[in-house]
Amino acid sequence: MAAKVGVGLLGLGTVGGGVASILQSPGERHPLVNELELIRVAVRDLNRPRPVVLDESLLTTDPSAVIQDPAVDVVVEVIGGLEPARSLILQAIAAGKSVVTANKAVIARHGQEIAEAAAAAGVYVLIEAAVGGGIPIIEPLKQSLGGNRINRVSGIINGTTNYILTRMAEEGAAYDAVLKDAQDLGYAEADPAADVDGLDAADKIAILATLAFGGSVERAAVPTEGISGLQGVDVDYANQLGYGVKLLAVAERMAASGDPLPLSLRVQPTLVPKDHPLAGVNGVNNAILVEGDPIGRVMFYGPGAGAGPTASAVVADILNIAGIRQASDGPGKVDPLLAAGSWRPCALVESGDIRQRHYVRFKTKDAPGVIGNVGGCFGQRKVSIQSIVQFNASDAGAEIVVITHEVSQRQMDEALQAIQALPEVLGLAAHLGCLQGDK
Ligand code: NDP
Ligand code: HSE
Repeated sequence: MAAKVGVGLLGLGTVGGGVASILQSPGERHPLVNELELIRVAVRDLNRPRPVVLDESLLTTDPSAVIQDPAVDVVVEVIGGLEPARSLILQAIAAGKSVVTANKAVIARHGQEIAEAAAAAGVYVLIEAAVGGGIPIIEPLKQSLGGNRINRVSGIINGTTNYILTRMAEEGAAYDAVLKDAQDLGYAEADPAADVDGLDAADKIAILATLAFGGSVERAAVPTEGISGLQGVDVDYANQLGYGVKLLAVAERMAASGDPLPLSLRVQPTLVPKDHPLAGVNGVNNAILVEGDPIGRVMFYGPGAGAGPTASAVVADILNIAGIRQASDGPGKVDPLLAAGSWRPCALVESGDIRQRHYVRFKTKDAPGVIGNVGGCFGQRKVSIQSIVQFNASDAGAEIVVITHEVSQRQMDEALQAIQALPEVLGLAAHLGCLQGDK
């Protein structure tokens, strides 16, 4: 068995706390998580109460002590801001350590300098958490979509503003109160102006453009407008016209080729048709739509901020580095993540134990009491009904549509058998699965 991979954490706030939680509970995750060992953690204030319980001896207020600790193999920078974060990343690289960071502000402005230093030192700087929180988008752009000519990357890439816009639209909630909630939930930047003024989204689209189009872009030149000037009346009118309003970030090529390749980048509040894939992206969720040749359109969707999702992306990067270390540990060894082998036996449950929500449509006689009898059969088998509606009642009969809550296939089959034996039920006309909505 290879030696453990030592992790040094710079920052133990929202994201750092999430990372420490994962490292402290490796059970039922990839076995490589068990090979990660949290060695030291740098914080600003040793006395600040923390949601995650750590051995106090791990904590220090000296980030350099973490970086220089010989047992630390990977440095995770989740302090945020430009300095000292940039200098600490460069210090870690100079010490020959690979770095994982969630810091889009630093990467958007100093990514080139950091990448060159890392290449010269032969170490990795991985940034999956810097864009889209828990959504895997950086590695797909670097690896899985490498065979494409990317034409456009667009998306909702700030969780705080999407959370604010969604709650204002759905609940008529007041801007200041929802922003405070976003801060309490750990979504917002230390200075939330970075979110609401569109600066965070501009950092992220600059990073995505660099990866998608292969050359670094000048962050300061990205036209950026946030949501602070957005007026409710415009959201209202857009709604009546069939649009939602989202803070959209867009990067697109303006020519098939060029030296330099002409790109257009922007961040601004934008009307999105309600049938567009980005229209249904609500709350703290983000989505990134990548358009390329030959793939067409592919969308990445998920939670864009918060401790757990962001820590998920950070730990994925740590695992990639750990996997590469293990692969180079001896002859014939391969990266266990890239190899994707199975690491334990698995078995399928019996079909009767499969649980899901169901949609069923019965053809029935239009007789008094039929809805009650159908509902009774479900109730006797403890099948909970979300909705039951009668359609098309006429002399020829009626149709009853039922959507259930989540139940086992066995419960459902027993209920359906009983219902089809009812004299007023003519037959089961449709039986489909039904996904749970987000709300
Ligand atoms: P927090 O403000 O919650 O945490 C910052 C941490 O850094 C704190 O533990 C703080 O210590 C520590 N710290 C600050 N300055 C120093 C210093 N000079 N020396 C040592 N420690 C220091 O930030 P987040 O966790 O929210 O964000 C961290 C990074 O992750 C940022 O770059 C952010 O943009 C990025 N990010 C955040 C996401 C989120 O949802 N929050 C999502 C994706 C990326 P102390 O606790 O003692 O104050
Ligand atoms: N403040 C950022 C957001 C955190 O709300 O999207 C995730 O990058």
